[in-house]
Amino acid sequence: MAKDDNGGKELAAADSSHGGPDVPVGTAVVTRDAIANPGFPPHDLRVTDVDPKAERRAERTVYTLFYVSVVGSVFAIAAYMAFPINPEDPGSVRENNLFIGLGLSLALLALGIGIVHWGKALMSNHEVIDERHPVRGSEETRARAVEIFEIANEESGFGRRTLIRNSLFAALIAFPLPAVVLFRGLGPDTDPIELLSQTMWKKGTRLAMDPSGTPIRAVDVTLGSAFHVIPEGLQDLEYGKLEEKAKAAVLLMRLKPEDLNELPERKDWSYDGIVAYSKICTHVGCPVALYEQQTHHLLCPCHQSQFDVSNHCEVIFGPAKRPLPQLPIAVDAEGYLIAQSDFTEPVGPSFWERS
Ligand code: FES
Repeated sequence: MAKDDNGGKELAAADSSHGGPDVPVGTAVVTRDAIANPGFPPHDLRVTDVDPKAERRAERTVYTLFYVSVVGSVFAIAAYMAFPINPEDPGSVRENNLFIGLGLSLALLALGIGIVHWGKALMSNHEVIDERHPVRGSEETRARAVEIFEIANEESGFGRRTLIRNSLFAALIAFPLPAVVLFRGLGPDTDPIELLSQTMWKKGTRLAMDPSGTPIRAVDVTLGSAFHVIPEGLQDLEYGKLEEKAKAAVLLMRLKPEDLNELPERKDWSYDGIVAYSKICTHVGCPVALYEQQTHHLLCPCHQSQFDVSNHCEVIFGPAKRPLPQLPIAVDAEGYLIAQSDFTEPVGPSFWERS
């Protein structure tokens, strides 16, 4: 039998095969282990434990790595000064990031490898057993805790003064409510479906390049090309430009007409193989920005949803649940691409529709 350090209570070990006393069946407090503890394997000495030359070599490697790390850090600082960012030269951002990144990578890599090598080759490697200790406090500690609570209760009058106690509970429950109300106010005032169903597109609006706002002529959309498109006039809006763009952004692509598998009711929504689809992903609304010309697939980089342009942008992979909405287009008398109407369904995330 063993003594509990904390409470002085006697504990019975259950398994006599592991060095404990025999315990009658039915009184054991711990089940016998099905598998005997195999213990530690024999301790293998490292080469640095037995060969002083190897130890010195490892020491040299470690401090060399740490000095290499210093060189990397200094290089990063020098790169910051040698390759400043010039706002008028986008290439300067690339150089600045590249060289600072190289310096910091070298510093971190050398530091990390050095620390690991130090730990593995030079630091003491004898095994240590960390015994588990009971989590339960001693009887004395527990009794003292109860006593403290009782004193606190007595001195504060928490249990006695019920009006104060109950009003405190009411105050604590009411306190988070303003936050709930304020956060609620951040949501849209109007019905989200209605909000996402109306964009700047309307009959006759010209399709324009993003961001220049230059109208696009059908002849300029060559086979295999893809354009990022906004409604003409969006750039002239004084207020709400970003909000409108977030709903009205469109991708325009031209395929061979025979590659397009159009739905019967949308036969006249395209023009000579040119189709326009909402750029706002139907998963959670990221811009679907990548077009794979050979396969006619659009990829959303956020969660990898893929849409097949040749099959009315149906989802072929990823978490999006519905096709990208199509914008019906036509050509005006001057050969510019125009919208036939607004989208016929809400753009963007489809979770609104499930509620
Ligand atoms: S937002 Fe496009 S896949 Fe998630």
